Amino acid sequence: MQKDLGDYRKSYEKSALLEESISDNPMQLFQTWFFEVEKADGVEEPNAMTVSTIGLDGFPKSRVVLLKKYTHEGFIFYTNYNSEKGKAIAKNSNVCISFFWPNLERQVIIKGSAEKLAENLSDGYFESRPEGSKLGALVSNQSSVIPSREVLEEELRNLEKEYENKEIERPEHWGGYIVKPISIEFWQGRPNRLHDRIRYSLDSNFDWILERLAP
Ligand SMILES: Cc1cc2nc3c(=O)[nH]c(=O)nc-3n(C[C@H](O)[C@H](O)[C@H](O)COP(=O)(O)O)c2cc1C
Repeated sequence: MQKDLGDYRKSYEKSALLEESISDNPMQLFQTWFFEVEKADGVEEPNAMTVSTIGLDGFPKSRVVLLKKYTHEGFIFYTNYNSEKGKAIAKNSNVCISFFWPNLERQVIIKGSAEKLAENLSDGYFESRPEGSKLGALVSNQSSVIPSREVLEEELRNLEKEYENKEIERPEHWGGYIVKPISIEFWQGRPNRLHDRIRYSLDSNFDWILERLAP
């Protein structure tokens, strides 16, 4: 029998997010939280994040990708530019990224605009990937309908032969996006559902405005 999902009840008690102890800059706070989540253990891929786009069909769509770098400018991930998300971003660059880190009872939600990363940076990252991942990027026409798994594996075998002892260059349809944030919300679970929510938003002077939101 299905468990009554209403019985999942958890009190969040691990931490707090208070104005007096946080930076004016959300990227600084993101870095602090990321380090703490890594240190606390219990999350195998703390860099796994959900990226939501507005699709060509007008529906939002979310999927998990891996954050590969963050800088003061934004959040970088790599994908296929012809994928469903790539086509969505080409039409509407507004995206939302979210992280859920259950080990420290934290969530971060970022709204921003996605831009293709400079080609030399995508080249550099592609170069650093293992051979198998490079060929995977080449073989997969991500998000297209394919007849079977066998066809994909056959194509991979062909590519492996073709590129034996040859350098694999980054295909044009594969590369990075940088998501430049306009707002970043930090959520810290607290007891009795009185969670802490602090939102930083960019104002017209590109200064970060910090506000507390009701849980
Ligand atoms: C843990 C995890 C990590 C993933 N990392 C990536 C990634 O870095 N880049 C990527 O293109 N897809 C990644 N995927 C696959 C995506 O979730 C998705 O299936 C793929 O990008 C196609 O999405 P789209 O059809 O909406 O464009 C990952 C999936 C999981 C579960």
